[in-house]
Amino acid sequence: MANFPEIVHEPTQQGFAKQALAQGLIDSHGRAITDLRVSVTDRCNYKCVYCRTGQVGAQYDELTTEQYLRLIRNFVDLGIEKVRLTGGEPLLRRDLTEMVRELASWRTPLGQKLDIAITTNGHLLEDLAQPLKDAGLSRVTVSMDAVEQETFERVTRVPGSFPAVVQGIRAAQQAGLGPVKVNCVLLRGFNDDQIEGFGHLARREGLIVRFIEFMPLEEGRLWNLDMVVPVKEIVDRLSTVFPLKPLAPNAASETARRYGFTDGIGEIGIIAPVTQAFCGACSRIRLTSDGKIRTCLFSHREHDIYAQLRLGATDQDLRTFILSAVEKKEARHHIGEPGFLKPSRSMVHIGG
Ligand code: 5AD
Repeated sequence: MANFPEIVHEPTQQGFAKQALAQGLIDSHGRAITDLRVSVTDRCNYKCVYCRTGQVGAQYDELTTEQYLRLIRNFVDLGIEKVRLTGGEPLLRRDLTEMVRELASWRTPLGQKLDIAITTNGHLLEDLAQPLKDAGLSRVTVSMDAVEQETFERVTRVPGSFPAVVQGIRAAQQAGLGPVKVNCVLLRGFNDDQIEGFGHLARREGLIVRFIEFMPLEEGRLWNLDMVVPVKEIVDRLSTVFPLKPLAPNAASETARRYGFTDGIGEIGIIAPVTQAFCGACSRIRLTSDGKIRTCLFSHREHDIYAQLRLGATDQDLRTFILSAVEKKEARHHIGEPGFLKPSRSMVHIGG
């Protein structure tokens, strides 16, 4: 198991805690934290080149369903409105449908239903899309890094993965989980020839295709700035094939620049955490599968809420702990700057 930085728990400042309880979760930079990403496992059935080294690494113990639900409940009571279940590959978790059903039965302190989403590689979605929809899932995002089988399977390193994912996306649309979002991480020289193909796919299938700039979160040492395909290039290349029109952001914390086609269905989103960071509008916080709170993908420090559970924390104790973590949320990441240090864990172990 990797060595983690020492975890320090400082008592929450009274004033901050009171304000947060009254207004929802507000961090010390004035950002409302409304979006919780929960990694339900760090296991994955793919070995994507930009994520895994291909070796099966150390596995972390996973929380039980009861532990997840108790922790998530306390986040929701403090102001979380959106819960995204991720991994690893979340569909590998057997009790996922039950978890979704329970979350869907909750109401926020303001009486709203939770927005419940999943980010998956789609491999097991064909069979699970309908049960997840019936359980109350709102939306699904499928990671798909190429529209051609050969390139796709060069990325995932799993033969037969392409048809499985295509079927998974179809099943999600048929189950009423659409419009399905498709995430494509672009790597220069690997799959950047797929950009136009994704444009066609979005229009043909009515999908929301989102290109994501590659971030230094892989297990290996692949990342460098030259591998990142910048936003401008993506927009320029798509615009020469399709007439694009910019769309308004869905929310202030929207990470994607959105474009529609002037003459067709589907949508393109571009997420540029490297060349056009959106930290100032970040509304996210993460819970890892071994019960650590992470306030940024690039945090060097985790907050061990699982240790609090084991020590017999009350719900009030857990909420105080969450508030103190939120208070320490980083202002921004430092990708590409001199002295930038990769986080201690890679994406598969943090949760996307
Ligand atoms: N950079 C950018 N995106 C990544 N993802 C995984 N690793 C990286 C990375 N290093 C994407 C996945 C998934 C989403 C949660 O994050 O493809 O769609």
